[in-house]
Amino acid sequence: MQNEHTGRLTRDGIRIHERGDFAGMHKAGALASRILDELAEHVFVGQTTGEIDRLIEEKVDAAGAVSATIGYKGYKHASCISVNHVVCHGIPGDKRLKDGDILNIDVTVIVDGWFGDTSRMYVAGQLSRKAERLVQVTHDSLMKGIEAVRPGNTFGDVGHAIQSYVEAARMSVVRDFCGHGLGRVFHSPPNVLHYGRPGMGPALEEGMFFTIEPMVNLGRPETKVLMDDWTAVTRDKSLSAQFEHSIGVTSDGCEIFTLSEAGRFHPTWR
Ligand code: MF3
Ligand code: CO
Ligand code: CO
Repeated sequence: MQNEHTGRLTRDGIRIHERGDFAGMHKAGALASRILDELAEHVFVGQTTGEIDRLIEEKVDAAGAVSATIGYKGYKHASCISVNHVVCHGIPGDKRLKDGDILNIDVTVIVDGWFGDTSRMYVAGQLSRKAERLVQVTHDSLMKGIEAVRPGNTFGDVGHAIQSYVEAARMSVVRDFCGHGLGRVFHSPPNVLHYGRPGMGPALEEGMFFTIEPMVNLGRPETKVLMDDWTAVTRDKSLSAQFEHSIGVTSDGCEIFTLSEAGRFHPTWR
C-alpha cells in the first residue's frame, strides 16, 4: 500500500525498496564488513575496547563514510563492544581484554545515505570449549534465520528457525532486543524477533531491508541494563554472543549486504 504521507510503498508499515536500492545497501554493508575484517588482528590480550573503537572511527573516516552510532541517542562511539556476559550495547573503554574473553563488535556506517549494520564475535587469547560452542551456535542460528528469508514466509518463520536451533542446543534466545528494518534510516519497522511461531508475523516481501542479529545466552534469556542506562547484560551473568547481518529480500530468497569479502564473518579462529 502507498503511504499517504510520503507516497512510498510500504507493507505492514515496512518500506518496500526498489531494485536500484540494493546497490547502495551493498556498498554500505561491504564497508561495515570490511572494517570488521580488519579488526581481527587488533583483538588480543591486554588490548582495550576503547582502542579498538578508536581504530574503527579512524577506518570509517578514512573511507569517507559516517558512523551511524556517534550522536545516536547521545552515544559517543563508533561501535558497541560487548564482552562476555554483556549482551549488547557494550560501551568501549579502558578495560583491558583478558585471556579467553569473547566479544561482539558491532559497527554501523552510513555510505551515500545508506546504512550498513553488522556485528560478529572475536576472542582474546585462548577460547574455552563452552565459549566456542556458544559462538558457533549463535553464528549458525543467524544463518538458519537467513535461510528462512524468502517471499511466502513470515517474520515468525525466521524467528522460529533461530529459536528452535538455539533451544535444541540447550541455550537461550534473548527476547529484550531484536533486529530492525533499515535502509536510509537506522532503525525502522519491523521489529525482527529472534523467536516466534511458524506463519506468524508480517509476510516477507521482495524489497524489505532489515537486520537479523540474534543474541544467545548460555544460561537464561533475561537481561538487565546497567546503571549507565546503556549496557545490557545477562541477569544470571552467563556468557552471551551475537552475530548480525543486514539483508534484503529478493524474489526467491535474500541478499546479504554485510558478507565478509575476506571470509572472516564466521569465527576467524576456526
Ligand atoms: N548497531 C546496533 C544495532 O544493531 C545499534 C547500536 S546503537 C548505539 O542495532 F547507539 F548503541 F550504538
Ligand atoms: Co542492528
Ligand atoms: Co548492529
